[in-house]
Amino acid sequence: MKQTPKGARTRAAGKGTGAARRKTARPAAGGGAASGGAEAGARVRLSLTVNGEPREVLVEGYKTLLELLREDLGLTGTKHGCELGECGACAVLVEGEPVLSCLRLAVECEGARVTTVEGLAHGPDLSPLQRAFADKGAAQCGYCTPGILVTAQALLDRTPRPTREQIAAALSGNLCRCTGYLQIIEAVEAAAGTQAQGRGGAPDGRRDAPVQRRSEAGA
Ligand code: FES
Ligand code: FES
Repeated sequence: MKQTPKGARTRAAGKGTGAARRKTARPAAGGGAASGGAEAGARVRLSLTVNGEPREVLVEGYKTLLELLREDLGLTGTKHGCELGECGACAVLVEGEPVLSCLRLAVECEGARVTTVEGLAHGPDLSPLQRAFADKGAAQCGYCTPGILVTAQALLDRTPRPTREQIAAALSGNLCRCTGYLQIIEAVEAAAGTQAQGRGGAPDGRRDAPVQRRSEAGA
């Protein structure tokens, strides 16, 4: 029988505490002042750092960060889900914090440091968190996995040994229809233990590691 963490129940009630939960309405086309003045359809030159690589792109002012990543940069590890800020499938890290990329206009990310699931791996090696997901069976269909991985990684970066309750709360904005969440929580716990023992590489510098290949666990 599927098990549901406290955080998932909280989320179902619309009161989740996950860092990537909905904070704003879906951005309107054109973006207005929030988009840095970009007109609908106008292309804006945008400079940002994605997975440690400086990127400069011309992007339409109406595009979300999710669309920029997938369509303009080819980083399809980040998934389209509800596009309403409800599912967490689109979560990425902006300046190290989980953000729902379906709700963030690309032009709002000028100069930002963005980390996607592709940026979690250490070169050819999966990160401890990705390995734990594979070992624990925390990814089944895998659609939710990229968003959960980046959100969980942000938690581990700021709280190296989180409690089960802290993990559930951090992931309360990420829906999974397959696993029942227990394996996901166990995987985060296992990764925390691995990182604490200093195996598999320290988390420091992960976000600045250049993309060398897609992660097996999250792509
Ligand atoms: S929350 Fe962004 S796609 Fe669902
Ligand atoms: S593994 Fe399928 S939705 Fe989470």
